[in-house]
Amino acid sequence: MAARRTVLELKETYREGTPLTVVTCYDYTFARLVESADIDVMLVGDSLGNVIQGRDTTLPVTLDDIVYHSRAVRRADGQSHLVADMPFMSYQSSDRDGMKNAGRLMKEGGVQSVKIEGGERVAPLIDRLTDAGIPVMGHLGLTPQSVHQFGGYKVQGRGEAGDEMIEDARALEDAGIYSLVLEMVPADLAERITDAVDVPTIGIGAGPETDGQVLVLQDLLGLDNSFKPKFLKRFADLEETVVDALERYRDEVRSGEFPTDDHAW
Ligand code: KIV
Repeated sequence: MAARRTVLELKETYREGTPLTVVTCYDYTFARLVESADIDVMLVGDSLGNVIQGRDTTLPVTLDDIVYHSRAVRRADGQSHLVADMPFMSYQSSDRDGMKNAGRLMKEGGVQSVKIEGGERVAPLIDRLTDAGIPVMGHLGLTPQSVHQFGGYKVQGRGEAGDEMIEDARALEDAGIYSLVLEMVPADLAERITDAVDVPTIGIGAGPETDGQVLVLQDLLGLDNSFKPKFLKRFADLEETVVDALERYRDEVRSGEFPTDDHAW
């Protein structure tokens, strides 16, 4: 079995100046494909609430959901680093809950690190987690678990809020994060944060100056053409390919063209 990339190896890649590649992944079938493509990091994101469960927000996602999907992803042999999201209310209630629940993701989900949304407020928890040997990826900007606070999925960090976000990034760095997701922030702010901290920044809707990029796998593969945020680039059109295959299957079963004797014993 190949060894998975460690956070130290990810930092090495960052120091060499090679952009980090991150995609979300929620199941074994796709994890195999992601591993074949030599992607640096697979994130079992709480976006599975939207993508897999068809929900409007990530808020209903449970720790059990993340454990279940992490286990499935982990079964694909490969070298991608495996990080999982701490879902809504698995750490906001208390640091004690945060420690216990991050421990569950490591022990039961088999992930190598956890991702936590938030700034200075979550720094004490990150300090404790890293002390306990649990590497943490930070997440600033549009943190979807706060969607109701933000009043929607909007660009964050405009104006003075940008300076606060830089302070948050520094606090997270001091607390020990190994990398930092920046979601839907103006490109110039993402660049300032990237310059201000010495950990790799991973952008999604944060422009070209971050140290890496992350996209939701199903989005980049074009599996839902109705989802069209400005930051998204589709690298395939699998919605059309999949529907076309299903229609051909339907037609061939109905016409008796499939199966033939070749498909029988
Ligand atoms: O849950 C998720 O998919 C994420 C990424 C968009 C960074 O947090």
